[in-house]
Amino acid sequence: MHPLLARQLRRYFKDAPPTGPGFAEFVTAVGDAYRAADEDRALLEHSLALASREVEERYHALKRDVAERERAQSERDAFFRASPDMLTIIDEHLRVVLANPGWTRVLGYEAPALVGLSFLDTVHPDDVAGVLEQTQALACEVGPRATVRDLEFRQRTSRGEWRTISACATFDAERHRFFAVGRDVTTQRAMARELEQTNRLEAVGQLASGMAHEINTPIQYIGDNVQFAAEGFDGVLSYLSAVEGVLSADQRAALAPAAEAADLEYIRDEMARSLGEAREGVKRVAELVKALKEFAHPDHAEKEHADINKALERAIVMARGELRHVAQVDTEFGQLPPLCCHIGSLSQVFLNLLVNSAHAIEERTQKHGVPMSEHRVRVATCVEGEEIVIRVSDTGCGIPAAIRDRIYEPFFTTKPMGKGSGQGMPLVRNVIIGKHGGRIELESEENVGTTFTLRLPFESPSQVRKVA
Ligand SMILES: Nc1ncnc2c1ncn2[C@@H]1O[C@H](COP(=O)(O)OP(=O)(O)OP(=O)(O)O)[C@@H](O)[C@H]1O
Ligand SMILES: [Mg+2]
Repeated sequence: MHPLLARQLRRYFKDAPPTGPGFAEFVTAVGDAYRAADEDRALLEHSLALASREVEERYHALKRDVAERERAQSERDAFFRASPDMLTIIDEHLRVVLANPGWTRVLGYEAPALVGLSFLDTVHPDDVAGVLEQTQALACEVGPRATVRDLEFRQRTSRGEWRTISACATFDAERHRFFAVGRDVTTQRAMARELEQTNRLEAVGQLASGMAHEINTPIQYIGDNVQFAAEGFDGVLSYLSAVEGVLSADQRAALAPAAEAADLEYIRDEMARSLGEAREGVKRVAELVKALKEFAHPDHAEKEHADINKALERAIVMARGELRHVAQVDTEFGQLPPLCCHIGSLSQVFLNLLVNSAHAIEERTQKHGVPMSEHRVRVATCVEGEEIVIRVSDTGCGIPAAIRDRIYEPFFTTKPMGKGSGQGMPLVRNVIIGKHGGRIELESEENVGTTFTLRLPFESPSQVRKVA
């Protein structure tokens, strides 16, 4: 009998269960039903146990999956936060959805403040059309594989300056989002341009040096021949005077038509002056060619001893074309020891300062009508302590205080296109401070003038003693 049924019968009938065939059959049938129920329950319990084990396994797998995703997410977040580049998610209307702290580092914006703003708000007006065109093309290009596009444009910093940004972007068509990475390449681009310019200047310098060399010889014999002609002409004049002294009046009258035909009187007066001018002209060309030859001579990798006053003189000769029409140049050269330096680079520095002075005077004259005759460019040198000091002063337009910090920035210029490219002062700084460990001082007053003072240290005290 089923034990549960036996217990129930005992509890119900105590010690006197009913007898008789009907009751025994009833008990058997109920006992069978109990056993069948037991079997069903056991089956159910087994199934339940199996199912709960399976659920538990799935739960653990899910937990592992979630932990893995969280780990991956936090790793991605770390990259997002630490990236030196600007990482941005942008919606299809080009509004910022998410920006990383790289934005603060590169352009100075607080990343959360950018969310919701148009990405184009920070792009240079001249570059907006290009960015729009590229992003639209990118959104249309989407196929099974995401396309990446490289873009370059200028973006404004929070301080209002422009930086060149190189970006790559991709578009997620399902979520209608652009994912972009932007990097500040302003310095690289400036350096590349500078290198290109330097290479060009070097090539031009070599060409100029070669041409100066070629011109040197013919100019010398033109000079010698003009000199010979002038001296010869003086001799011929003296001879003519002597002949005229011994001629009778009739003989002189007989020769008068020939003298008139040859314009003898005029030639006598003018030829000496003409030959003098020719000699002066040839001398100037020779000076210029010599200066050009030495000026264009490329710097050696090693420094060499050079005479700074001579280099300044040559630079003045070279700048004569710019200076002649605008100002008188005064020089006051002190006694200088030879300086161990890169003289080619220093010559370019001097030339740039002189040309800047000429331009500044020209600008002041044009704006305020101060006559050219009142303008001066003064070049002075001296030794102060352990330094050679070079001062270049002008009576030009002056440098407004607001831009004094900016004149050394590559490509910063206030001059119209074609007149200035903003490469002079960066070169001055690079050569004086970078190549020679010197200093540059600037004094300037608007509509009064500007003085640049260059201080070049002697390389070592022993050298000072040696050369003094
Ligand atoms: N002596 C000066 N007087 C007034 N302004 C000056 C003087 N020297 C430099 N500047 C200012 O500094 C700017 C930068 O000078 P920099 O020599 O670098 O470039 P640039 O003369 O404009 O062009 P580049 O020298 O490349 O032909 C000039 O555009 C000008 O505004
Ligand atoms: Mg210049």
